Amino acid sequence: MSGFGYRDDALTVDGVRLDTLAEAYGTPLYVYAGAEIRRRYLSLLAAFSEPAPEVFYALKANPTLGVVALLAREGAGADVVSVGELERALVAGVPPERIVFAGVGKSRYEIDRALEVGILQFNVEAIEELRVIAAAAAAAGVEAPVALRLNPDVAASTHDKITTGRRDDKFGIAGDRLDEALDAVTALGALRLVGLHCHIGSQVTALDDFERAYLRMAEFWRHCRERGFRPRRLNLGGGMGVRYVDEAELDLDAFASMVRRVTADLDAMLGFEPGRFLVAAAGRLVSRVIRIKSGSHGRCFVVLDAGMNTLLRPALYDAVHRLVPVVRQRDAASIVADVVGPICESSDVFLRNATLPPLVDNDLVALTDVGAYGATMAADYNSRGRPGEVLVDTGVVTLLKPPVGWIELAANETIPEHLVPGADREQPRDR
Ligand SMILES: Cc1ncc(COP(=O)(O)O)c(C=O)c1O
Repeated sequence: MSGFGYRDDALTVDGVRLDTLAEAYGTPLYVYAGAEIRRRYLSLLAAFSEPAPEVFYALKANPTLGVVALLAREGAGADVVSVGELERALVAGVPPERIVFAGVGKSRYEIDRALEVGILQFNVEAIEELRVIAAAAAAAGVEAPVALRLNPDVAASTHDKITTGRRDDKFGIAGDRLDEALDAVTALGALRLVGLHCHIGSQVTALDDFERAYLRMAEFWRHCRERGFRPRRLNLGGGMGVRYVDEAELDLDAFASMVRRVTADLDAMLGFEPGRFLVAAAGRLVSRVIRIKSGSHGRCFVVLDAGMNTLLRPALYDAVHRLVPVVRQRDAASIVADVVGPICESSDVFLRNATLPPLVDNDLVALTDVGAYGATMAADYNSRGRPGEVLVDTGVVTLLKPPVGWIELAANETIPEHLVPGADREQPRDR
């Protein structure tokens, strides 16, 4: 289930045809299904019986205001990693007391701003960071709520580039430095330890990986208690994996009962920071076939107008997104081809040697499950512009973000006066 489906052979969401959206807004175009985002959020809450955990949507997965606003309206908090994400969360209607701020590189300015608006907690990644937060809080005359992000030293079985909980990863405070961190909290003043936090990586589908990390967190929690600290919130991060092709999606009920078991005696208020789980399946990237190109030895390339500049995950993480037709042709044979983008990089490939629906030049296709880490990673490379983003929610179509062409991308650039084309002709230089 994803909110998308075929009606009369046309791919639709909430009864709205994706080909009409492509006509209206151009391609490449991200299309999101509001109902699916809502369903996912509620399914996570439902998996945990009362008390419901706190859910902080990880904006990094998709920070588009309309998406954040939808989740905020459902009651989700926000997990942010920059002042830009913080401001987005606020604009989208997330109350500051439901915002947590993680990230290894919070600047003093970002910390000051978070204190000013009164966020729920800083998820602190380093003892050195504690010092800066304490200084900022003292200067502002407030007490900063801090949760220690602890590194549980667990290698989650996911892509190497999205594993974050190993000892040598840059994230979190090493478990063997917990005492030092607790000493710093006490010594620095202006800090209040409100919780512990961990996040072991993204697209994690093995329950075991989570369990090993959470068992470590439970040990850390008990240690804090033994030392006389009274943290309230145990934030267990995000990372819940989804099905892109044929992976086993994380079993939410099994996940919830494991979490309840591991944390049963901790007297902790549980929290999670899912990004991908909430929004990945709710997105489609609609793209037009620019050309079907024949290669040597019978090889065939389907060249799309979307590329690694539009959807980076395949080039960055070897991620696979399925390709489906926007209008199904029932009477033509499937083809085998590589699906590539127009960018001048050999890594600009979505699928290799894939069996695809019948396609010809100008056909529309959709790449599936692109709602997370899709549009937000779009870039300017090759000056092809950025894609638009559309939300279909309760039958209403909203252009969340218009496409951006090269003119807008270049609009604020400056050519030095003496290099402006034609400048030397107008003002001859003295020799
Ligand atoms: C600290 C933190 N929390 C939450 C997330 C969200 O992860 P996911 O989208 O896999 O749920 C991330 C992603 O990198 C993260 O770094």
